Amino acid sequence: MVSSEGLPLERLPGHVAIIMDGNGRWAKERDLARVEGHKQGAKRLRDVISWASDAGIKQVSLYAFSTENWKRPKLEVAALMGLIATLLPLEVAKMNEKGARLLTLGDISKFPWLARRALQKAMQATAHNSTIDVILCLNYGGQQEIVEAARHFYASLDQQTDKQKQAAFEQLTPETLYSFMQRDEILPVDLMIRTGGEKRISNFHLWDAAYTEFYFSDTNWPAYSQQDLQAALTDYASRERRFGKTSEQVQGKDHE
Ligand code: IPE
Ligand code: IPE
Ligand code: MG
Repeated sequence: MVSSEGLPLERLPGHVAIIMDGNGRWAKERDLARVEGHKQGAKRLRDVISWASDAGIKQVSLYAFSTENWKRPKLEVAALMGLIATLLPLEVAKMNEKGARLLTLGDISKFPWLARRALQKAMQATAHNSTIDVILCLNYGGQQEIVEAARHFYASLDQQTDKQKQAAFEQLTPETLYSFMQRDEILPVDLMIRTGGEKRISNFHLWDAAYTEFYFSDTNWPAYSQQDLQAALTDYASRERRFGKTSEQVQGKDHE
């Protein structure tokens, strides 16, 4: 089986995470306000859902607002919240057409009511879709997510004796902590793309970063194209993911 983009399906990443960076620089290069960059960026977000769906990708997570982005000027934060509230309702029809189900990751309880309502409505209106999951990461931070998991783990021991609690901590494994991360519906990130030329993770999907494949693109997000995405997918398809094993083991030539 090959995807519509010509790659063998087993060589396609299941979950692609994108750090959509470079909106501000794109605008500055054109003497525009930063918010114009965010508006163009929102258009690319719509396109990438469609390209990823056509390529046969099952999940795409899009970093739209980090826990650190609250530190930006108040007006820029307000503009970003405004874009969610105004643009998201316009995307629902297209998402339904592409079979895209909207999910969120991050604490949206801190968002203004209008943005929250737009997100909730779009999630409800697309809940039945199953071609691709679009996970909007909003007020998301990888460190915060791990700390939250630790809190949930501790809370789960509420009814236990001190001795049982101590035993639970001693036996704690990465798998157990992960099970408290509330990512039941989310596949491990196979490929993380960052646009805009910076080579850092900026607190995105820290847990999965353990074995995610990284791809850095110099294109600023508002100028990101289907060819750019295709280049990342083709590069990913050529990689050998070893997860600590040897190349021979991965290729099944050495079973020791
Ligand atoms: C990414 O673009 C969008 C958000 C963080 C919301 P930036 O706004 O970070 O753009 P640059 O990095 O300043 O160019
Ligand atoms: C990461 O980009 C967050 C998003 C794309 C939403 P930033 O522009 O906030 O990251 P830093 O500050 O350059 O690391
Ligand atoms: Mg940036």
